[in-house]
Amino acid sequence: KIKALSAPVGTTLDRWIDLNQDQFPYATGELSRLLRDIGLAAKILGREINRAGLGDITGMAGSENVQGEDQKMLDIVGHIRFVRALKMGGQVCCIVSEEKEELVLTGKNDAKYVIAMDPLDGSSNIEVNVPIGTVFGIYRRKTEIGTPPEVAKDALQKGVEQIAGGYVLFGSSTMLVYTTGYGVNGFTYDPSLGEFYLSHPKMRFPAEGNIYSINESHYFKYGEAVQHYLNHCKREGYTARYIGSLVADFHRSLIKGGIYLYPATPGVYPDGKLRLLYECNPLAFIAEQAGGLAYGNGQRIMEIAPVNMHQRVPLIIGSERMVEEAMRFLK
Ligand code: AHG
Ligand code: MN
Ligand code: MN
Ligand code: MN
Repeated sequence: KIKALSAPVGTTLDRWIDLNQDQFPYATGELSRLLRDIGLAAKILGREINRAGLGDITGMAGSENVQGEDQKMLDIVGHIRFVRALKMGGQVCCIVSEEKEELVLTGKNDAKYVIAMDPLDGSSNIEVNVPIGTVFGIYRRKTEIGTPPEVAKDALQKGVEQIAGGYVLFGSSTMLVYTTGYGVNGFTYDPSLGEFYLSHPKMRFPAEGNIYSINESHYFKYGEAVQHYLNHCKREGYTARYIGSLVADFHRSLIKGGIYLYPATPGVYPDGKLRLLYECNPLAFIAEQAGGLAYGNGQRIMEIAPVNMHQRVPLIIGSERMVEEAMRFLK
């Protein structure tokens, strides 16, 4: 018998953050407030996404971002909503955003944290009503409190320096999934109450997985190692699933088990397509906290020292066994 939809069980995001204060030894509440600010921005952006078709904001913005990508209006709406919520919240001194070439300074030079974010991931899926997301990684600033933030010291930090990482998935339901280094927890948004509720405590990759996720249209551009691995997946009878939104493809891998790959793609994306600071590092943090792995260029994603804010790296991420198996082909 299906459980009647009673009042959602579990704690709200705000109560959860309060309950877990002890996890943030260095913070005197700022990180908690920052996580709340992200939750608020997700609610605000979610409202626009869930009505995108009505507000005529699914189309192109007519501008390009630093990656030379045509910006969708929702890319920019997402960027503006998050920057505004983060500025209002006052907890970050600067923001790395996919949609801004330079480091965004909030003017809050006494704030402790730096955030790297992909405000809207999966833009190509907006007008076809397929899940899209937001990705964020949070760092402690390295420059002196009270001084202006600096790209080299504050923005170009390795993934291992993250103190929080997560994503919002605007799918059949809206979920916020994040870690502060003490495991991964998933919250589902109840729009009728305007609250995120803890729905997926202590998320872990299933031990086994047999779903591989890659854009196989590039097959003939990949190196031989990737081709051999893909042929292996077919011989093993794995299932293929590719949504084309990294957040959605990653979330499915986390829930069902599986592996996602965006390898170096000569002639198209020689260093892979995904960006280290605001796509690969936050998801690598989540993956490792959930018992999975994340590699790029033969090394742990979170060990890669960034050289610029928008640098791309190849990404192989997912269930431990599947990533280890893939790395035997792709080392
Ligand atoms: P974004 O929309 O933030 O630019 O990211 C798009 C990324 C990622 O979401 C997705 O997995 C990948 O692009 C899809 O790339 P292909 O269309 O080349 O498969
Ligand atoms: Mn983009
Ligand atoms: Mn993205
Ligand atoms: Mn994006």
